[in-house]
Amino acid sequence: MRSLPSYVQLKEVGPRDGLQNEKTWITTEDKVNWINMLSTSGIKEIEYSSFVNPKMIPALSDAREVGKRIIRNPDVTYSALVPNLKGLEYALEAGIDGASVFMSASETHNQKNINKSIQDTYPVLDKVIVEAKQAGKHVTGYISTVFDCPYEGKIAPERVLRVCEKLIDSGVDDLSLGDTIGTAVPTQIEQLLELLLQHYPKEKLILHFHDTRGMAIANIMTAMHYGIYRFDSTIGGLGGCPYAPGAAGNVATNDVLYLLEGLGINTGIDEKKLQEAGVFIQNKLDKTLPSRSLAYLKNA
Ligand code: HMG
Ligand code: MG
Repeated sequence: MRSLPSYVQLKEVGPRDGLQNEKTWITTEDKVNWINMLSTSGIKEIEYSSFVNPKMIPALSDAREVGKRIIRNPDVTYSALVPNLKGLEYALEAGIDGASVFMSASETHNQKNINKSIQDTYPVLDKVIVEAKQAGKHVTGYISTVFDCPYEGKIAPERVLRVCEKLIDSGVDDLSLGDTIGTAVPTQIEQLLELLLQHYPKEKLILHFHDTRGMAIANIMTAMHYGIYRFDSTIGGLGGCPYAPGAAGNVATNDVLYLLEGLGINTGIDEKKLQEAGVFIQNKLDKTLPSRSLAYLKNA
């Protein structure tokens, strides 16, 4: 087991993963104001929306407007989900630094989420990756259901490796591995990382935990012992995939920050500003978000 990293980079995916499953419509103006707050909190990467079929994700149907209106902090990388060339065209017009393509390691989740088999997905993503790279953009490949699938159960690490190989061959810069339904435990993280780190350096791997069973913090600790230093999270623990039944929100940025600060690991994030952004969106959604650290700070 290696020592912990001295710096961890958190990507705030709240404006995308966090809002995509919300029934309450957050106005474009509120989204823009919220992202602007996040942009000044010290967070280095924000996934601001999703350029998908708006009928499938109505909560983010204003992605183009949001992208055009947010105030860009030059120290922040702004990325968005892009499923196909149409999405890429809209995303480039709205402004992105990074495009995130996405698919699943499990056949059934891939089909439900993006309406294609895994084999049929590769050529679609291949075109997006090539065009995004030609446009000078960073490209991340998200892989969902890398541990467990809501339809197929446990997913063998070798299946995940096959998808990683295809996406890396197509030209993605890095890979974000999703515990989509938040059910993995640390031994699963170990098994997957033991395999993937034989093929890729730690710099290429990001972990994306949902926190359905409260295991995300333990899983992040495990991943950090393997040298992984990039994680996706959402403020307050917002989120979930509408095409993955039972999935709760992402691990809360506030909870991860509490852990990292306690461990003496630098993130560059201002806890107070993060808290203000969390309270802002909590009030707009008119519900209590699951993060324990956010609740504690709010009442402190
Ligand atoms: P499809 O139905 O196969 O595509 O969708 P299509 O080409 O037949 O198009 C159907 C309709 O969608 C057409 O409109 C297109 O114009 C429109 P219509 O003629 O019916 O009016 N369309 C688009 N509109 C705007 N922007 C676009 C676009 N593409 C098509 N880019 C597609 C294929 C992938 C587009 C669809 O299935 C889709 O949008 N899926 C998105 C599902 C989604 O967003 N899921 C949640 C995000 S993934 C996630 O949360 C997991 C993650 O967090 C990691 C983890 O936790 O594991 C990343
Ligand atoms: Mg997710």
